[in-house]
Amino acid sequence: MKSIAIFNNKGGVGKTTLLCNLAAFLVLEKKKKVLVVDADPQCNATQLTFDDEETEDLYENQKTFTIYNVIHPLSLGKGYTKDVTTLSRPDFGFDILIGDPRLSLKEDLLARDWSQALGGEGRGLRTSFLFSQLLTRFQDYEYVFFDVGPSLGSINRSVLLACDYFVSPMTIDIFSLKAVENIRISIENWTKQRSTALDNLQDHDALPDEVDPRLTIKFAGYVTQQYKAKTDGSGNLVAVKAYEKIMRRVAPTIKANFIEKLQPNKQSLEYQLGTIPNLVIPELPNPDSSCRCLVSGTASQITSQIKDMDGPNQAQP
Ligand SMILES: Nc1ncnc2c1ncn2[C@@H]1O[C@H](COP(=O)(O)OP(=O)(O)OP(=O)(O)O)[C@@H](O)[C@H]1O
Ligand SMILES: [Mg+2]
Repeated sequence: MKSIAIFNNKGGVGKTTLLCNLAAFLVLEKKKKVLVVDADPQCNATQLTFDDEETEDLYENQKTFTIYNVIHPLSLGKGYTKDVTTLSRPDFGFDILIGDPRLSLKEDLLARDWSQALGGEGRGLRTSFLFSQLLTRFQDYEYVFFDVGPSLGSINRSVLLACDYFVSPMTIDIFSLKAVENIRISIENWTKQRSTALDNLQDHDALPDEVDPRLTIKFAGYVTQQYKAKTDGSGNLVAVKAYEKIMRRVAPTIKANFIEKLQPNKQSLEYQLGTIPNLVIPELPNPDSSCRCLVSGTASQITSQIKDMDGPNQAQP
């Protein structure tokens, strides 16, 4: 099982749209077993995969299991939840652990327990490893995709420290470039803080079973989204001028931050995994295969990149 967060801390760059289409493509066209975890309190992935009536039924039923049920027992001091329920979405193929707006109420809990973890407090560390522990239940899947909101807050810290990989959708604007630097700084800080917490930890039984507590998330690559382009005389799409300047800065910014700083031993890989055009399809994602297949190139780049990165150590540059 490989866990992948689709992440950029710039909002509205197409994270959820890309994730749902990728997950659907991998199941319906490539016959993979895929789970989507909606860890964004905005619940857009959940909303995209259920129609309004289904959504209403789900959220009016007090017994529906959502991501909130994964974290709430921890805030009551009851430890990790025993049974986790996911729902299957035949139209999209994948299973989903549905989101919950109440997850945002737990941002404070995760922040408080993280600072206690830094002082070596076992309980704080257990809370912080919540998504790592959750992933141990999902070993039957080939891919688990996490949809997350556009923040560098404590929920996303816990998710990103738990995942094997992240993929960043990028829009071609200056704020996407700034976001890359923010993400790199955050991942560096979080990883250092987690080492401090583990070094200070007295009670090693506090660590959840079967979790690699020092797992380091790897950057698998980026996808340029909503690329504004015009058609030239020969019918080819070319970047409009305002975007060309920024476009040229994307690869160097990614290289300087995500590759040279986070994974300097993996410089030889190609990190641009695809370009999603500014799709004019009215409804995305869509169970219709012609829509889904628009991400086929990106999906195969992501899966083969992960295979390469899992393989023997990359050659030094
Ligand atoms: N490739 C695309 N082409 C055209 N429209 C797109 C594309 N990707 C996303 N969109 C549209 O852009 C908007 C934002 O997309 P989406 O919700 O996927 O972004 P996001 O990064 O997940 O946002 P957030 O940061 O709020 O979670 C949506 O209205 C979506 O339909
Ligand atoms: Mg989203």
